[in-house]
Amino acid sequence: MAYDLDRFVSDCRTILGEDPGPAGREQVRRHLETLLAEPQFIARHCQDATPGVTVLYEDARLGFQILAHVNAKAHASPPHDHGASWAIYGQATKYTDMIEWAREDDRKDPKHAKLKPVKKYRLMPGTAGIYQNGAIHSIDYPDHACFIRVTGTNLDKIDRIRIDLKTGLIEQMTAQQAS
Ligand SMILES: [Fe+2]
Repeated sequence: MAYDLDRFVSDCRTILGEDPGPAGREQVRRHLETLLAEPQFIARHCQDATPGVTVLYEDARLGFQILAHVNAKAHASPPHDHGASWAIYGQATKYTDMIEWAREDDRKDPKHAKLKPVKKYRLMPGTAGIYQNGAIHSIDYPDHACFIRVTGTNLDKIDRIRIDLKTGLIEQMTAQQAS
């Protein structure tokens, strides 16, 4: 039987209900890679889907979300965090260039940050990366790149920041401003 969204949701509920920490998230990441290997799932939720962001599932009890990001146009987002949440990015079509950043400042100035890149890689179809609470990354993808994101909570409801690389200015993010 093919792995599908319903089974993935069921697995996420079981796994995160037992262990919402890093070990549970890693299991979710691996299950997401299993889901991304299913052509029917990719066709329905990415290739044949209307461009935009669709919430495929939100768990009322645990709060996690599964979102399909179907991107018609190329885009690069500045370095940003996911606030007090974690996020898993699973590439479905095309690719996403990821940079993970570390802060070099002492975090005493709430308006400025100094970043250095610590990891650069290209997320290819079928692979998923995990970004733990407070981790900062930037993403850059071409036309028709699609990814599935699992987040610990609805990111539109929590405080998040993005950082201007040229000036170091820290800005609060508004809903759906960057992923
Ligand atoms: Fe992100």
